[in-house]
Amino acid sequence: MDKNLRKAVIAGNWKMNKNPKETVELIQAIAPLVKEADCDVIACTPYIDLTAALEAAKGTNIKIGAENCHWEKSGAYTGEISADMLAAIGIEYVIIGHSERRTYFGETDETVQKRVRAALDAGLTVILCVGEYLEQREQGITDELVRLQTKIALGGVSADELKRIIIAYEPVWAIGTGKTATAEQANEVCAVIRQVVGELYGADNANALTIQYGGSMNAANADELLAKPDVDGGLIGGASLKAEDFAAIVKAASK
Ligand code: 13P
Repeated sequence: MDKNLRKAVIAGNWKMNKNPKETVELIQAIAPLVKEADCDVIACTPYIDLTAALEAAKGTNIKIGAENCHWEKSGAYTGEISADMLAAIGIEYVIIGHSERRTYFGETDETVQKRVRAALDAGLTVILCVGEYLEQREQGITDELVRLQTKIALGGVSADELKRIIIAYEPVWAIGTGKTATAEQANEVCAVIRQVVGELYGADNANALTIQYGGSMNAANADELLAKPDVDGGLIGGASLKAEDFAAIVKAASK
């Protein structure tokens, strides 16, 4: 199996942007521009926007995801949202382990593993983020680090459950900085991820896995990145907030 047999997935990560009214406007602006997409199109929004996003996306090909979830089903966890709660309102996707969660909110590989477990148990599809800091790249430990992040996060995940995992390679130094990894750098690490997944689950399962690149992907560089054999899609921050830019990336993934 090769890239042509994997469905490309373009997901927007809206981060802490847009209120419910703005969410409806943005989904309505994106929908007509992506309706012919030959890839999966996902918008991951702040919790407070999810209901509005689901409503606005009804009858379109846009799927809605959350940006995080807690690992417990319920309980005394003030301010948290469980995977079951997301599933109960009709959410299909959840981003887990984003570097901003790891950097600013104490997320560790162990808590990422617990959240992945909870999300899978709730029936969600996970967009699992891995990636290195600039110092780690400069130390030459990118591959080892990403291998480890991937292995820990997938601890306890069965081959069948792997079908509901998308992995996003997001080099932290490329996020929101305008510095994109070169297409070669992106492809190289995506290939490392596929290799480690192959070691864990066998080549067929690894070949079926969608691996995205994320980090300053935009309308201008999407074509080159998405043309690489191991880059099956994108996780888009800034450019996902502009309907035309996001649609241009979706178009690049649909080729
Ligand atoms: P930018 O596209 O803004 O660099 O963000 C990437 C990202 O973090 C997506 O999760």
